[in-house]
Amino acid sequence: MIDYKKFISEKIKEVTNIETIEDFIEIPANKEMGDYSLPCFKLAKELKKSPQMIANDIKEQLNIDGEIIQKVEEKNGYLNFFINSESLIKTVLEEISEKKEEFGESKIGAGKTVVIDYSAPNIAKPFHIGHLRSTVIGGSLYKIYEALGYKVIGINHLGDYGTQFGKLIEGYKRWGQEYNIEEDPINELTKIYVRINDLCKEDDSVLEECRNNFKKLEDGDEYCTNLWKKFRELSLKEFQRIYDLLDVHFDSLNGEAFYSDKMQEIVDILQNSGKLEESEGAKVIKLDEKQMPPCLIIKSNGSTTYATRDLAAILYRARTYDFDKALYVTSYEQILHFKQVFEVAKLLGLDEKYTDNLTHVPFGMVQLSTGKMSTREGNIIKLEDLLSEAISRASQIIEEKNPHLQDKEEIAKKVGIGAVIFNDLYNSRIKDEIFDWDTMLNFNGETGPYLQYTYVRTNSILEKAKYIPTVNTINYNLLSDETSINLIKAIYEFSNIIKLAASKNEPYIISRYLIDVAQLFSTFYNANKIIDENTEIKEARVYLTYCTNIVLKKGASLLGIKMPERM
Ligand code: ARG
Repeated sequence: MIDYKKFISEKIKEVTNIETIEDFIEIPANKEMGDYSLPCFKLAKELKKSPQMIANDIKEQLNIDGEIIQKVEEKNGYLNFFINSESLIKTVLEEISEKKEEFGESKIGAGKTVVIDYSAPNIAKPFHIGHLRSTVIGGSLYKIYEALGYKVIGINHLGDYGTQFGKLIEGYKRWGQEYNIEEDPINELTKIYVRINDLCKEDDSVLEECRNNFKKLEDGDEYCTNLWKKFRELSLKEFQRIYDLLDVHFDSLNGEAFYSDKMQEIVDILQNSGKLEESEGAKVIKLDEKQMPPCLIIKSNGSTTYATRDLAAILYRARTYDFDKALYVTSYEQILHFKQVFEVAKLLGLDEKYTDNLTHVPFGMVQLSTGKMSTREGNIIKLEDLLSEAISRASQIIEEKNPHLQDKEEIAKKVGIGAVIFNDLYNSRIKDEIFDWDTMLNFNGETGPYLQYTYVRTNSILEKAKYIPTVNTINYNLLSDETSINLIKAIYEFSNIIKLAASKNEPYIISRYLIDVAQLFSTFYNANKIIDENTEIKEARVYLTYCTNIVLKKGASLLGIKMPERM
């Protein structure tokens, strides 16, 4: 595919000898300013000429024959480039014909590894809506990086370690047979936890027992370890149902406990660095110079912390995966935690290749529009119920719109889950998300179901057309009307959009883009008769429909959304 931006940059470089010219070139919002534009005021200082003069000088010396760039215009100090539509149509259609489902992919990440730490719920505690966001955002970033050729390692850094397990073990030892933890693990374990906590408040000796259990667990005591394993496995089995619904996978389930024997090394390294300080019986790394509170490494009771385990994980991941980037997807409540950890990581003696490439990818909270959803313990929503409700609401809508549809259940699942995922990824991560059923399931809004519906429409057109024409028989001139060209321009941008989404770790760049493509397709569809009597016209328009079909499906897959073939 022709890279127009690069092509234009090369041409300007021939004239100006400015190496970095590509960074200056913009895509103007106003179509009258062309497809690409060079704002010459940015060069005025260096070239000591007025922007208008620079633009005109470059324009005069440019060697352009009209085939790729149709015309170049100077306007108010901007040099505007208009792409030859035939060249654009040809390059897009040929690329799709060649790459098909791989359209948009690239190799910029080839040979590089990115580690993504996401989801990470806590064992024996509910999988809450914040974990859902982490799962959905992390799952999408996984696919985005993969499409760029990176080797991706998805890690579920489970919260499976901590003194609460000493308590759970004690509770289970006392009343285990009263609770059916096999049947409903998280609920039942939560009940045990609440009960033992109450008892601990009344009776210090019970609290002492709990502490002992945790100590025994750390020392590898068989009874305690087996119980811990059981709690972990049962919880994971429950989490797995959510992962199955979302179709999210991990390459590693090494949670916090995995680092229990790897923290001593961290403490030793930090001790040797001379930076580990005693403070009220605890050991900390002071971060005053960085305007942060100290990072707690060993608590005054001798136990390690969440931060110590994250430091051990950095060392382990650097050694094991030799990563080029490591991302951590959690809510913004953990911004300070990661700032501290990343700062302390610089003391571990690792190459800067690792410590310079640790990135926290924070996201905002989820706000419920009404109190309608089933909530437990105030604001904790049972995720599985939420996803089932999404599916059953989608199913109701399908029942109204198309009662005779085949495979209704499968389709309702794609629509319901797709709606939840899209809603999660529609805004910049850091914004709080509004959770409102009617908005996210609206087939005409900027929603997952709207994308799916548009995709299905392209499918039925392709079905009606009966065949997909071969690209070299297409008369490109027949796609030069405004609505077709606008759609083709958007399709052309797909691979840049994927790169941009990765560079900002923002899946919403893809969601917004897909809405754009869907809307441009509707405009094209309303303005043009696709299955035209004239075969040449029909084939050209069918082919553009096919291109749209490919981009919508591929783009949705990068978000983790599945497209139904009919609905
Ligand atoms: N389990 C933590 C929580 O629920 C999230 C862990 C995120 N990952 C990490 N490496 N700290 O808040």
